[in-house]
Amino acid sequence: MKSFALVAALAAFAIAGCDAKEAGNSVSPASQEPQVAPILTTADAKDSYTYARPQEARVANVDLDLNLDFASKRVGGTAALDVIAAPGAKQVVLDSKGLEISAVTDASGKPLKWAVGASDPEKGAPLTVALPGEGKQRIVIRYRSAPGAEALQWLTPEQTAGKKYPYLLSQGQPTLNRTWIPTQDSPGIRQTWSARITAPEPLKVVMSGERLTPEGEPAGQGRRAYRFRMDKPVAPYLIAIAAGDLAFRDLGRRTGVWTEPAMLDAAASELQDTEKMVEAAEALYGPYRWGRYDVIVLPPSFPYGGMENPTLTFLTPTFIAGDRSLVGLVAHELAHSWSGNLVTNATWADSWLNEGFTSYFENRIMEAIYGKHRASQEAALSFDEMTKALKEAKNGDSTRLHLPPSDANPDGGSSGIVYDKGAIFLRTIESIVGRERWDAYLRSYFDRHAFQPMTSALFLADLRQNLVKGDKQLEQKLMLDQWVYQPGLPSNVAMPDPAAFADVDRASSAFAKGGPPPSEFAGWTTAEKLRFLNSLPRKLPQEKLVALDRGLRLNEAGNNEVLFAWLELAVANRYDPAVPALERFLTTQGRRKFVGPLITALAGDSQWGRPIAVRIYAKARPLYHPVTAAGLDKLGLAPAK
Ligand code: BES
Ligand code: ZN
Repeated sequence: MKSFALVAALAAFAIAGCDAKEAGNSVSPASQEPQVAPILTTADAKDSYTYARPQEARVANVDLDLNLDFASKRVGGTAALDVIAAPGAKQVVLDSKGLEISAVTDASGKPLKWAVGASDPEKGAPLTVALPGEGKQRIVIRYRSAPGAEALQWLTPEQTAGKKYPYLLSQGQPTLNRTWIPTQDSPGIRQTWSARITAPEPLKVVMSGERLTPEGEPAGQGRRAYRFRMDKPVAPYLIAIAAGDLAFRDLGRRTGVWTEPAMLDAAASELQDTEKMVEAAEALYGPYRWGRYDVIVLPPSFPYGGMENPTLTFLTPTFIAGDRSLVGLVAHELAHSWSGNLVTNATWADSWLNEGFTSYFENRIMEAIYGKHRASQEAALSFDEMTKALKEAKNGDSTRLHLPPSDANPDGGSSGIVYDKGAIFLRTIESIVGRERWDAYLRSYFDRHAFQPMTSALFLADLRQNLVKGDKQLEQKLMLDQWVYQPGLPSNVAMPDPAAFADVDRASSAFAKGGPPPSEFAGWTTAEKLRFLNSLPRKLPQEKLVALDRGLRLNEAGNNEVLFAWLELAVANRYDPAVPALERFLTTQGRRKFVGPLITALAGDSQWGRPIAVRIYAKARPLYHPVTAAGLDKLGLAPAK
């Protein structure tokens, strides 16, 4: 019964006058990509982090014409929006945050009435524009971003590797793009886009779309213009830009890497398996539909490990370990080209549909390229992360995959749930139905829903219709609703390979019982080192820390994940000899996953840690991206401005 209602609701997305084809359950081959993507209208697809009312009027395309001004730290120019209005709609509501709007006109330049409503610290403010006509129409907004726009980080030359030129990078997910683009900033409202961006010479501009002017075009006054196009409808959080002294190197037929010249050799070497990864991903779940797959290795202040911007994955340089041991990150961002970018969570309450699917897919790519052993170790680490998240959860609600509104922070819930429990759910289905059948289903799922939004309910309906197919026994075995809607861990969970870390676990308990640190450590895989460090008791006597530190040379770890795991342990135990390494780590990169937990732990230790945190944060804060700094400022470490 339930699935019938859902399918009916799904078919009811249509906005009058919109030429989207009916969604239903028909397969939509790549050649028939909808030009205007459907909007879901079910209650669970309503995004509470947007002011947009897409059933009345929705943005279908954005054309940006912007200048980058490094002196004032602003982008400024125009955004021309193609809007599709339902009959009788008089206005369109957009999202904006801190934008300084100077005019809004129709396509011919005739002024339109507009107003910015009350501002919310998180959502920003609604920008309401009176529509010039009926049906499909164009509005043009002249504006500039505020110097503190949260999506944008303007780096001084000193903050780059080359130290000579400034740098700009953006981060849109989840709701930050409204600080530099006035549009309907909701993952369920897909839009095509184009851009013309000017920057001072010799800076290069790259974006998450097709590059139409590889060398740029003269734009006067010592500037060049770069043009881009994304002709497939994408969620607006996926529009991204970077500008700086950038060099490029091919990695394969359709893959390549951008980075600062000083970083190019190291980046290209670490990324040498990228083309193979794309091939492995295609062999699993169907054609890569975005043309090129390039990556950009950013300056170390980039707040995430990676961001799956279409055609151009953004990466932290902290994944470069010299031995490709952290390229699971690349597999992850690449996998989002299917789970996330092709089929997209309609709201952030369903982030697991992006991140859980992607973490599962990441592991399948890793297995295809590096073998079962490495993949099963990485899957076992992910299981540990989930177990930790389940244990630490403040309330059961936050351990559900489909997050209730109270826990559906747009920044995603606990990653141990959204990423790891999500992936383990899919691994559980795989173990029940068998890999062949599961892979065939997943591949067809991406085809059926390509370029469309997705909800938990819609996924379950699709799964029941196309995989379970009324098999009552199978339905019972899968425990689907429990996995998606209930807290905790269902009893049918597929357990990780018990042999994955057998040796490491022996070494870990021997050490805990008083033995020396494991002499094999240096030869272990990164996953093994992480399992060892994370399985040690959180409180250790100083002499054990000294033994670890000296025996395993942890303060000098060149692998940032290993260094992070060690520093967490060191901080929890007030281990002074790790402070110089800690200070170096916190003042040379700004990845939230690393700096967040370490600075928070220091700040929470009023006697030993807090003074260290105050001193280091004063030095580190200028390096951090606005979203990283905004989170950490809440700890009250910086003197009030
Ligand atoms: N899409 C995420 C990054 C993100 C999540 C940005 C939520 C804003 C809000 C990206 O794909 C991601 O998951 N990155 C991870 C790496 C991954 C290997 C787990 C990260 O940044 O650590
Ligand atoms: Zn991800």
